[in-house]
Amino acid sequence: MAQLFTRDTQAIFWNNNKTAIQRMLDYDYTIKREKPSVAAIVAPTSNNKFEKFFYGADEIMIPLYKTTEEAAAAQPQADVLLNFASFRTAYSVTMDALAMDQFKTIMITAEGIPERLARKMNQTARDKNVTVIGPATVGGIVPGAFKIANVGGTIENIVNSKLHRAGSCGLVTRSGGLFNELSNIISINADGIAEGVAIGGDRFVGSVFIDNLLRMEENPNVKYMLLLGEVGGIEEYKVIEAIKSGKITKPVIAWCIGTIAKHYDSGVQFGHAGASANADRETAEAKNKAMAEAGIYVPESFNDLPNKIKEVYEKLKAEGTITEIEEPELNTVPKVRRSKNFICTISDDRGDEATYAGHPISSVATPDTGKSIGDVVSLLWFKKEYPKWATDFIETVMKTVADHGPAVSGAHNAKVTARAGKSVVESLVTGLLTIGPRFGGAIDGAAQYFKYADDNDMSPKEFLGYMKKQGVPIPGIGHRIKSLKNPDLRVTGLMDYAKEHFPSTPLLDYARTVEALTTSKKENLILNVDGTIGILMVDMWRALGYSEEEIDEFIESGTLNAFFIVGRSIGFIGHILDEKRLAMPMYRHPFDDILYDVEKAEKL
Ligand code: ACO
Ligand code: LMR
Repeated sequence: MAQLFTRDTQAIFWNNNKTAIQRMLDYDYTIKREKPSVAAIVAPTSNNKFEKFFYGADEIMIPLYKTTEEAAAAQPQADVLLNFASFRTAYSVTMDALAMDQFKTIMITAEGIPERLARKMNQTARDKNVTVIGPATVGGIVPGAFKIANVGGTIENIVNSKLHRAGSCGLVTRSGGLFNELSNIISINADGIAEGVAIGGDRFVGSVFIDNLLRMEENPNVKYMLLLGEVGGIEEYKVIEAIKSGKITKPVIAWCIGTIAKHYDSGVQFGHAGASANADRETAEAKNKAMAEAGIYVPESFNDLPNKIKEVYEKLKAEGTITEIEEPELNTVPKVRRSKNFICTISDDRGDEATYAGHPISSVATPDTGKSIGDVVSLLWFKKEYPKWATDFIETVMKTVADHGPAVSGAHNAKVTARAGKSVVESLVTGLLTIGPRFGGAIDGAAQYFKYADDNDMSPKEFLGYMKKQGVPIPGIGHRIKSLKNPDLRVTGLMDYAKEHFPSTPLLDYARTVEALTTSKKENLILNVDGTIGILMVDMWRALGYSEEEIDEFIESGTLNAFFIVGRSIGFIGHILDEKRLAMPMYRHPFDDILYDVEKAEKL
């Protein structure tokens, strides 16, 4: 690819470096990118699922993953890895990423990766044709398309240095600080840069000058190139060779910094690990001389570099190689922004008509829409339009559990509360608070344990043994009054529906084998209504294509009990209204129904 990045390029950012990511998004907003340039963040120690960032005045959520693998799988279009791991982890993060064959470019910011490892890492990348920028770099930029992290500094600085749109210079430096400085100089003396890379200051960096210049040679937007080298190393000689052999034909301006070194008696180590001459050829002076001899535009001194840039730029403009740039319209990042405290991803009430997962209420509310409560649940709970067999199942479940008479524990409590003069809502929540692991709230537990047993290929006997060890009754098994002889027809109804309408029911089939064993021990240990619902919901979600992780998450968050909660609310309210209609007095439990076993005070 001739150009390093495009306007569609998206990156995975390794480490939740909020300031750098926000700078990328401010850049994206300024240049009106269609998609944010960061598709995902890898944050190994965070339990959060996303991080909020500003996009203009609004906020967007960028997903967080614990590993590069997960992030890459979720964002297969992201072909750039911005590796902001520390020098201790940067090597392994890069090697893992290289093994994935998803990334075309990897930028590594850490300084001080052991040189032996850096060489191995760079070679692996080279073998795989992956461009590595760094280590020890701020990165690079294709103005108007994609900017890595902190390159160019603040958004004001970026616009001032004309880094918001493509110019015509291809810039390659070692230093990140001087990269910014040169971008500014080029914007003043010419029309800005078309692509720029700071290759990094370590002795062993991934892509070297020649790699970047050869790519820029192929990039039609680059009309001339500027190379800022420094004392140490022999990479500049490869550029000289490429010019001599005709591989590079575009004009090149170059300067090697560090000419001051000759004024010292012994070798000088400058700031970068690679900035030290080990032989005469590696001095800045020698390299500047050799480059000038090869026809490269080399200024008299660094101070003269701006004039050289102007000279080459004006020449190319006069020739017609460089034409006038039409300045694009930009967005302005607001100075004051307020972070939002709440997030809503299911409904929106700001327009003329509120929506459920994007569907106006009127498109699901009335009978002529053909939509049911099952559809509304699938939209508001799962943000999806489920197929009819699934929405019908959801509705069947809610209708099936709506009531089971006045004697069940929840209805009883609701009735007693209503008779104490409490309101509908107070009586309702009393009933709802009765729902739990023994009554109506065993659905999540049933799904969790049966799924676990089936996932781990446990035989029914092993499963029973496992549950005994856990010391809990099997959720979804057993009923006070229902048994093999007095079957629960709700259970039969749900199973019949599933057998007829579900694509398949593997977990139910497994649960039936467990039930055969439990009922052989005690005939009321049937698969009860809670168990049947939990198990069939897992079968439904699997058939709808959810991943096992997504299903586990539903179960963990208590989604399944919610079907009972909503359904049974209908019945509780019925009982409460019944009490009120009958104007029933306060209830007091009869003495003779209580076994009093209280010791006398003198005995205590
Ligand atoms: N798993 C294993 N053994 C069980 C289970 C079970 N789920 N349920 C009962 N048993 C055993 C008990 O250990 C006890 O054994 P023991 O006689 O050797 O001591 C025997 O069966 C009777 O136990 P009880 O708790 O008296 O059973 P009961 O029939 O009164 O209770 C209940 C019914 C509470 C539903 C019980 O079966 C249970 O806790 N099940 C799991 C929770 C559940 O699924 N609840 C939802 C029910 S449906 C609904 O509420 C809408
Ligand atoms: C119910 O649905 O409430 C019942 O299964 C519980 C019961 O005790 O009958």
